[in-house]
Amino acid sequence: MVIYLSGEVDEEARLDEMSPRQIVTQLDKHVVGQHAAKRAVAIALRNRVRRQKLAPQLAADVMPKNIIMIGSTGVGKTEIARRLARMSNSPFLKVEASKFTEVGYVGRDVESMIRDLTEIAVELVRAEKLEEVADKAELNAEERILDLLLPPRASAGFYGFDPEETESTAATDSAPAPERDEQFQKTREKLRVQLREGKLDNRLVELEVREKSFPTIEVAGPQGIEEMGINMKDMLGNLFQGRTKRQRMRVDEALEYLLQEEEERLVDMDAVSRSALERVESTGIIFLDEIDKIAGREQGGGGPDVSREGVQRDILPIVEGTTVNTRYGMVRTDHILFIAAGAFHVSKPSDLIPELQGRFPIRVELESLTLEDFKRILTEPKNSLVRQYKALLETEGIELEFTADAIDAVARFAVRVNEQTEDIGARRLHTIMEKVLDHISFEGPDLEPKQQTLDAAYVTRTLEDIVRDQDLSRYVL
Ligand SMILES: Nc1ncnc2c1ncn2[C@@H]1O[C@H](COP(=O)(O)OP(=O)(O)OP(=O)(O)O)[C@@H](O)[C@H]1O
Ligand SMILES: [Mg+2]
Repeated sequence: MVIYLSGEVDEEARLDEMSPRQIVTQLDKHVVGQHAAKRAVAIALRNRVRRQKLAPQLAADVMPKNIIMIGSTGVGKTEIARRLARMSNSPFLKVEASKFTEVGYVGRDVESMIRDLTEIAVELVRAEKLEEVADKAELNAEERILDLLLPPRASAGFYGFDPEETESTAATDSAPAPERDEQFQKTREKLRVQLREGKLDNRLVELEVREKSFPTIEVAGPQGIEEMGINMKDMLGNLFQGRTKRQRMRVDEALEYLLQEEEERLVDMDAVSRSALERVESTGIIFLDEIDKIAGREQGGGGPDVSREGVQRDILPIVEGTTVNTRYGMVRTDHILFIAAGAFHVSKPSDLIPELQGRFPIRVELESLTLEDFKRILTEPKNSLVRQYKALLETEGIELEFTADAIDAVARFAVRVNEQTEDIGARRLHTIMEKVLDHISFEGPDLEPKQQTLDAAYVTRTLEDIVRDQDLSRYVL
């Protein structure tokens, strides 16, 4: 699975420039407890920076210092990695290690994760560049709309304008209206004002649009093609791209269309690719989830799974440092940071092949969450569950309050249900809270009074019966 986390940069500093202590402080804002894990992540990150500063001969001999997080479900493993990525501008990819052993994927080549990460980096860098050119693109688009509304040709015809080139090409950058024609300029500026006020939105203009609809061809190419990093869709897209057609549309739609076209024109995709490759190589992070599922050596038996040891052997060179061919160019994986995670209930990190163990020297165990942790998770993080529910219901005019003892009660129930049924960690808080707010969520806008204060008695009333019946709570909570 590919998760793309964009935007929302909490801290201006690049992650790689932050001290380990600063990283931990940032993580504290979102993840409760798990100090050891935060510390380990910060160290892993810092080690990468240190290794990058070494002379190449020495760096080649220093093994990458990646990290394994060990902890049962719902204690914050993914959350820490996710936050780490959000804090930074690093390309980040979460991938389930077990996916490489799944039937159907048979031996899906592990290099695809580097290609996916590169895609993400390209998207990241492109978004940044778009941001940079946004103002200019808007201005250009506006000029082009004005050209359409008041064609320069009409007034400028006798200056020897070639009607062939008056359209988009000639109109884009240079203001075409000759200075002598003051009247023309004046009208144009008046139109500009009206355009900006949205008064012209309903008018129709005709413009040249690129043909987008090309025959959909299902590409079930051989695996080799993906491996070479060639994208059939792209190739076909380019094939059909040349075609244009004239189309009438409303001014506001046209503005939107031209804006996109200008953005594409102003962003140099070659530069984006180059910069993205650089970003992947120096700051990329890959979160290898469920690493415990591929732990274990060859034990015979077999079955339809691609051998787990085989997958480990495939992953090894990537972690160690190799070159992967992507459609944007070669990516060296030497400095990509790998964060592996797993519950390790059945297998142990020592069940991984020795070579791989050596590349993940930082081990950290996440603690089980306590009652106190649950209370803090409910309230402290910036986007804690309590804040989320308050905000959600506020959209319908309901003011929700939780008393301190209500929070306490929710946390207690979570602990109890985790003990009685299955320990799913902080995820239990989600199911419990949903149940507690069931009535209020359903009534929503019809609820009276608009101010609702939930106390311990309310929480107990909604949950007591369900929790007492173990079978029921297995289904409901
Ligand atoms: N220490 C914590 N602080 C704040 N929130 C937490 C913490 N631990 C878990 N959560 C919350 O619980 C949910 C699940 O956590 P997370 O996805 O990190 O679990 P996990 O450890 O990766 O489990 P799994 O092994 O099942 O993938 C998240 O929505 C997160 O908000
Ligand atoms: Mg997880």
